[in-house]
Amino acid sequence: MNRLTLTLTSLLATICLHAGNNTPINGEVWLDTSGNPINAHGGGILHHGDTYYWYGEYKGKDTYRSPNIGWECYRTDFTGVSCYSSTDLINWNFEGVVLTPDPTNSTSDLHPTMVIERPKVIYNDNTKQFVMWMHVDDHNYWQATAGVAVSDSPTGPFRFIEAIRPNGAESRDLTVYKDDDGKAYLLYSSEGNATLYISRLTDDYLKQTGVYTRNFAGKSREAPAIFKNNGKYYIISSGCSGWSPNEAAYAVADNIMGPYELLPNPCTGVDADKTFYSQSTFALQLKDGSFIAMFDRWKKENLIDSRYVWLPIDINEEGITIPWTPTWTQNMETDVDKK
Ligand code: DGJ
Repeated sequence: MNRLTLTLTSLLATICLHAGNNTPINGEVWLDTSGNPINAHGGGILHHGDTYYWYGEYKGKDTYRSPNIGWECYRTDFTGVSCYSSTDLINWNFEGVVLTPDPTNSTSDLHPTMVIERPKVIYNDNTKQFVMWMHVDDHNYWQATAGVAVSDSPTGPFRFIEAIRPNGAESRDLTVYKDDDGKAYLLYSSEGNATLYISRLTDDYLKQTGVYTRNFAGKSREAPAIFKNNGKYYIISSGCSGWSPNEAAYAVADNIMGPYELLPNPCTGVDADKTFYSQSTFALQLKDGSFIAMFDRWKKENLIDSRYVWLPIDINEEGITIPWTPTWTQNMETDVDKK
């Protein structure tokens, strides 16, 4: 981040503070309605009824590095999946920890020693259940499984069902996507994170149908964030460099299962080659049909203090671009309650 960007960001933060509003500044601490930092990392948003529900990793206070591992395996104990609710995407109420750890059973997938990352929730219109998919791993990320949990309410509690290797393959970074026709898909980095699988889920969204495709084979893409615009599917992703930022890429296809054309970095502006020091997690559609790309700016040595970067996605004939901007609310005319 260069000096000019930092100065502009601080200036905007100061103006917003004096104006007394909650305009979220990318990379600054975002507070919930109780005044506490929002703790929902690697998250995604469900728009259900009139309310947005933001689910994410509820990071523990202490970050430590798993011993005897060659790469920078920083983590916190698993302390749950959080949920925040909002009707304007600005003021977020903490709804609590909706998937809780199980400290009593050392073999549980939800034991504090485990890793739970990138939780995403979709709603099943037929079963009336809220279905959460998440990356479930052991302390050194060798288990490589996808976990599923359900709840009758968007604010939980979620009941954990199981963690599996979908289609018999490794699963780490993931997201889940519900299409317009009600069919749902699990997207997950597999084969040592070298290949992204897209797997059709069963009608209850709880299992794999066995129908899947392997995408970007050998290209090592993770942190998938998918959205659909004008009948085309777009996947924003990162490269694989642990908690350190790298250059994003995106892909486009006419069919959710592919084939996808992998295209260069959509980010533009200062530090675009490092995705503005952040990593993709979700693409959110606003009421006016436009999209916000959600990113995490990880602080690997103090993960609970990782920040959020949300940026409008520009979609045009040539493809998509994601320009840097200090705040994302300019696209929010129809979602923000202007005071
Ligand atoms: C990159 C992934 O995208 C994150 O979710 C997390 O698993 C880190 N790697 C761990 O290093």
